[in-house]
Amino acid sequence: MTFAVTSVSKVYGATTALSSVTLDLRPGEIVGLIGTNGAGKSTLIKILSGATAPSSGTLSYEGRPLAFGDPLDAQEAGVQTVHQNIDDGVVFGASVAENLMLDALATGGPRGWFLTRAQVRAAASAVAPGLGLPLDAPVESLPASARQQIVIARALARRARLLILDEPTSTLSEVEAGALAFRVRESAAAGVSVLYVSHRLSEIEALCDRVVVLRDGELVAMFAAPLDRTAIVAAMLGPAGAVPAPREAVAHVGREVLMADGVRAMPGGDAFGFRVRAGEVLGVTGLVGAGKTELLEQLGGARPLVSGKLSLGGAPYEPKDPRDAIAAGVAFAPEERAAQAIVPGWSVRAHVTLPWLRRHIRSGLLARHSESAAARHVIDLFGVRGPGPDAPIEALSGGNQQKVVVGRWLAGSPRLLVLDEPFRGVDVAARADIGRVVRERARETAVIVASSDPQELHDLADRVLVLHEGSPAGELPIADATPDRLAVLMSGAATRSGGRE
Ligand SMILES: Nc1ncnc2c1ncn2[C@@H]1O[C@H](COP(=O)(O)OP(=O)(O)OP(=O)(O)O)[C@@H](O)[C@H]1O
Ligand SMILES: [Mg+2]
Repeated sequence: MTFAVTSVSKVYGATTALSSVTLDLRPGEIVGLIGTNGAGKSTLIKILSGATAPSSGTLSYEGRPLAFGDPLDAQEAGVQTVHQNIDDGVVFGASVAENLMLDALATGGPRGWFLTRAQVRAAASAVAPGLGLPLDAPVESLPASARQQIVIARALARRARLLILDEPTSTLSEVEAGALAFRVRESAAAGVSVLYVSHRLSEIEALCDRVVVLRDGELVAMFAAPLDRTAIVAAMLGPAGAVPAPREAVAHVGREVLMADGVRAMPGGDAFGFRVRAGEVLGVTGLVGAGKTELLEQLGGARPLVSGKLSLGGAPYEPKDPRDAIAAGVAFAPEERAAQAIVPGWSVRAHVTLPWLRRHIRSGLLARHSESAAARHVIDLFGVRGPGPDAPIEALSGGNQQKVVVGRWLAGSPRLLVLDEPFRGVDVAARADIGRVVRERARETAVIVASSDPQELHDLADRVLVLHEGSPAGELPIADATPDRLAVLMSGAATRSGGRE
């Protein structure tokens, strides 16, 4: 009952994404697949799930060869995949219920063709009990975290022999990730083979029986539980890799940049106020649905202010759209990489300069030279690995795309930098790089960073604002923001008992 990957390689033009990888996936076993951004994890997964054909090598299940490059064939063999790009797994324009029921609807037959709306709803709530999602809402109206939960619920509900999860928790907070871990363990206990990709090493340690490390497309190490994090990181980074530097102390805190008074994360939430000074990084955290993105979108001009007022450097700040925000000196890197920040078919270079296009225009013509210099700067600064500035953005691995879309905001010189989940899918080394650059930038700029993973904020923020169901649940200086205290605030326990920090 073993899935066997034998000498599988994949070449894209000049890039060898995978080089002769051999791996067995056994029933009941949870295998962690890790490696830095661009190491080849998603490529291996795309091959196993039939989304891409390998350049050479074989795949087999119980000794029988599997066909390549055919997702339906892989599904028939019992391979269920949650891809890294969640929007590969949802159909825009369809409702949440229809998305949960996609298989029955897509394969047609009596189960698909003749289902009434009510039947689709009923079946959908059986697929995702307790998910608490609005079943009739169009799927694109939901935040990334909800879309991710839909894709995961669907994969878990199907009877899988091999369950593949490519960064399934990238948009989820620790609590939701914990719930997923429980379901994954249940599947493994029922005899399912699981292949699990994550850049959150604590998740890997808690979940996996075995860890496989890819580096530059090669399988370089394999570890069995109990896992040793230092050894895993060393294998990931390789001999030339540096261990990420610890967080720098704040050099100096300057003038107040942003003042928010009487604002709300969401309609119906409590009003609150806060200040951010130049030289300061304010972290915002909370569970999925707590209102982090809603708050940041208001600051970045992507959503109208629910209530209250904002001022920037002492003057009223009332952005009508993100362009207004940019003109006022506010750079906003939104949460959703694929849907909001990536223009398919455009080059890496164009993605770096997109928000600052006006700066690269000389006498009405786009100065390719200055554009390329800006792109190269971001590529060097963050160690973006891939085929170079002129390649289409899709040729970069997920984490490298993320470095580009976050890095381009750091390439300008905003007064206020607003980053929503900047570390999503970014490896440990790159995370430290982004953190270092953000802190350096924070010398002249006020920074607000939202993350569902408090550990990430620990390395970066000076203060943490915790939201719970659209209302502020407390604010802690970083020294007091221990995982336990944050967890209490995030869960709303402190707010419910009437206590406010
Ligand atoms: N369609 C493509 N065209 C060209 N190169 C590609 C393409 N897809 C992936 N690559 C390259 O293959 C290599 C491996 O990418 P892959 O997506 O497998 O990395 P990954 O380990 O999943 O990284 P991440 O952690 O960032 O998701 C990278 O160098 C990437 O640039
Ligand atoms: Mg990937």
